[in-house]
Amino acid sequence: MALDESLIEELGLGPIWVRRAVVPVVPVVPAEETRQPTAQVERVQQVVEAVEAPAPVVIREAPQPEPDVPPLDAYDDLPWTDDAPVHIEPAEAPSDIHTLDWDALAARVANCERCRLCERRTNTVFGVGDREADWMLIGEAPGENEDKQGEPFVGQAGKLLDNMLRALALSRESNVYIANVIKCRPPGNRNPELDEVARCEPYLQRQVELVKPKVIVAMGRFAAQSLLKNEASIASMRGRVHEYRGVPVIVTYHPAYLLRSLQDKAKAWADLCLARSTYRDALAALGVEQGAEKGGI
Ligand code: URA
Repeated sequence: MALDESLIEELGLGPIWVRRAVVPVVPVVPAEETRQPTAQVERVQQVVEAVEAPAPVVIREAPQPEPDVPPLDAYDDLPWTDDAPVHIEPAEAPSDIHTLDWDALAARVANCERCRLCERRTNTVFGVGDREADWMLIGEAPGENEDKQGEPFVGQAGKLLDNMLRALALSRESNVYIANVIKCRPPGNRNPELDEVARCEPYLQRQVELVKPKVIVAMGRFAAQSLLKNEASIASMRGRVHEYRGVPVIVTYHPAYLLRSLQDKAKAWADLCLARSTYRDALAALGVEQGAEKGGI
């Protein structure tokens, strides 16, 4: 709470209705000064005078940010408290994202300020891998390591993912493209908000258009629900072939979940096998001979 507000509270003058003159006329007192009793008394007098001065009554405006902003990391363990997002374009703003090539798209993401997540990111996390891959894997949003390094799935969950892919002769170095629904880390790894998904989704849509994958694997409930526009459980979405913008989608568990729930690894393996057979079916439909595929065994 800002100092002038705390004084108002202290005086019992701080309900919803206060005079507009109160907030702007009281200067911010440096921390040193607040420790001096005389300065404190002067401040109280200032506030009382301001409250007593005649002025039109208005609904209190949002408090100004406090001058002493804690370091960015300090927010990470707190629930999200921003109720006044900035840098937000109207959701319906016309966008040329669907016309961008890879370089322009990557640059657009790197400079993106379409939602509040831009304020606390270290790096945007665009995507990694073969930009002409037949397989595309889609996760939720960057975590702490990804935010630091600017690459998706670089933590423990990423190692598990890489190992599972290797079992299918797939890797981010050669024949898979990996991206997230959200390109910036949500503070404290909270779930992304609906408006953040809406503002970020055009980037993923364009990535899918550019990669033109033959199969998409959605990892985790959030990614699956975002792509498939539903609120279904992972259990109900697994084991079936869905579709995103004309591309078959297989839903599986998020690798971070698998790190905690080893018993579900076998199910995740079954999901990848379904993705592989779906991929083969897609190739067959295109008349690609077995053995000529570029994506996995
Ligand atoms: N979890 C995700 O969904 N994506 C990442 O890039 C890292 C962790």
